[in-house]
Amino acid sequence: MLRIPAFRLLGRAGASRVSLLEDFGLRHYSSGALCVRDDTGDARAYFTTPIFYVNAAPHIGHLYSALLADALCRHHRLRVPSAAATRFSTGTDEHGLKIQQAAAAAGLAPSELCDRVSAQFQQLFREADISSTDFIRTTEARHRVAVQHFWRVLKARGLLYKGLYEGWYCASDECFLPEAKVTRQPGPSGDLCPVSLESGHPVSWTKEENYIFRLSQFREPLQRWLRGDPQAITPEPFHHAVLQWLEEELPDLSVSRRSSHLHWGIPVPGDDSQTIYVWLDALVNYLTVIGYPNAEFKSWWPTTSHIIGKDILKFHAIYWPALLLGAGINPPHRIYVHSHWTVCGQKMSKSLGNVVDPRTCLDRYTVDGFRYFLLRQGVPNWDCDYYDEKVVKLLDAELADSLGGLLNRCTANRINPSGTYPAFCTTCFPSEPGLGGASVRAQAEDYALVSAVTTLPKQVADHYDNFQIYKALEAVSTCVRQTNGFVQRHAPWKLNWESPVDAPWLGTVLHVALECLRIFGTLLQPVTPSLADKLLSRLGVSATERGLGELYFLPRFYGHPCPFEGRRLGPETGVLFPRLDQSRAWLVKAHKT
Ligand code: MSP
Repeated sequence: MLRIPAFRLLGRAGASRVSLLEDFGLRHYSSGALCVRDDTGDARAYFTTPIFYVNAAPHIGHLYSALLADALCRHHRLRVPSAAATRFSTGTDEHGLKIQQAAAAAGLAPSELCDRVSAQFQQLFREADISSTDFIRTTEARHRVAVQHFWRVLKARGLLYKGLYEGWYCASDECFLPEAKVTRQPGPSGDLCPVSLESGHPVSWTKEENYIFRLSQFREPLQRWLRGDPQAITPEPFHHAVLQWLEEELPDLSVSRRSSHLHWGIPVPGDDSQTIYVWLDALVNYLTVIGYPNAEFKSWWPTTSHIIGKDILKFHAIYWPALLLGAGINPPHRIYVHSHWTVCGQKMSKSLGNVVDPRTCLDRYTVDGFRYFLLRQGVPNWDCDYYDEKVVKLLDAELADSLGGLLNRCTANRINPSGTYPAFCTTCFPSEPGLGGASVRAQAEDYALVSAVTTLPKQVADHYDNFQIYKALEAVSTCVRQTNGFVQRHAPWKLNWESPVDAPWLGTVLHVALECLRIFGTLLQPVTPSLADKLLSRLGVSATERGLGELYFLPRFYGHPCPFEGRRLGPETGVLFPRLDQSRAWLVKAHKT
């Protein structure tokens, strides 16, 4: 574990911008979430989701963002099992024109809309087993303090000036757009209306005196940061995209709006006629959570990993690091970026009426089932398409048949009447294929299985570090299939416990398969926590034996004692994952529509 004194990674208060940038030379860490150990040996990591707009109810895209962060965070906890070492924040983005307009359209006070929808996000995340440690709402008093302090720091450093801002503003995306990013489309009345080229949302012309942030000064520092830390933005294509954007001019950024136009927000300190731009307000949430402006935030900040969707990359990879540098704070350690879910080939939208309700999905497919589906099928580098049949097919094949079937095969009373983890016989399965004599029963494919499962935890960790959780799950699933092949090949149901020739080999086949299951169960914990718990409990693996630090596969094969050998299995608790009944009414209905 890398030992880095936290203070070396932070900008020193009062340092000039130029000297601050010298700190970047320190930022060459190994990939993956950074752990900083303090003097007590506490290894910290701080994961964040975006904070979610409260203009509409949550959909599966929002849940996906939160699940990716949850899986990363849970995987980190398995590596560093000290509860105090990990923070994981999520929350709701409640200010701005978008929310002000949505509340007006719903005939509600903005605060009423915020309370209602924020509660829906909180409930969804509870139901979906999102293990966040913090939930922030930008309407909280602690956040207002943090944002106004941040503003004052920028002001004191000469990075804000007042000027006339004139240009397009898109309220749905809460962003300013240059003319080149605006197109015309026929509106409801047939007239051509200006819309954002990227999102298709309507834009309007704005001309007002605002506070402006000297973003243009940060083009080079941002380039240096990204060139010096090639994994800062992961996966690589997004890192590359940001460097491409930085090839172009970086105009200064308007960071306030007239309060008469936008009243639902945080006032500019010392100037009530202006409201702080909602993106500046929202981004500071990541600091508020860890106690900013109190010094305690400094011990968490260097370990920050932001998980975001590709649509908000510019805000997180350009505006946010520039604002941070401006305030004397280094950019986040990692920005993990994911793509979007479409539904039956179309973008999800309220107007198309194709928004998939995540709570219905959790009900239909179970919490662990739906978590597994989104994380197994969601590929960060490109968009993924959602449809119900795909969920049923995947879960039936991988969780019910393959994994559940394997567990059943090794624990069923018929095959394992003693209900224990049987002994491993080294003469039937010697550590090298050439060793041993006539009693050797293991074949070449069995050695390939042992080798695959031995390297699986490291492979999975590498995939997590590269933000390719779907690949981690694919690797587990491949090994589950391979283990089923092993069991099938040796057909333990044809072997006889009473025969002195068969019994040691029968025990060995079951021992190897149970060891494989123990590894799979341990590695699946970040994605399917309840199902993994059920599996590990059935195997008799105690709560203290489920971390990644001491995860050794098949120690008997490698000449070490196995703590599980001879141990009683846990109680039988029924099928691991019930097959989804394809004749259910909802599926038939979904098929017809
Ligand atoms: N409020 C801002 C974020 C501020 S963070 C300082 C915002 N909110 S959002 O509710 O619109 O989006 C939140 C997250 O959901 C983003 O990461 C976004 O990419 C993600 N998704 C929104 N629609 C999505 C899909 N269709 N598919 C996957 N994720 C999507 O942006």
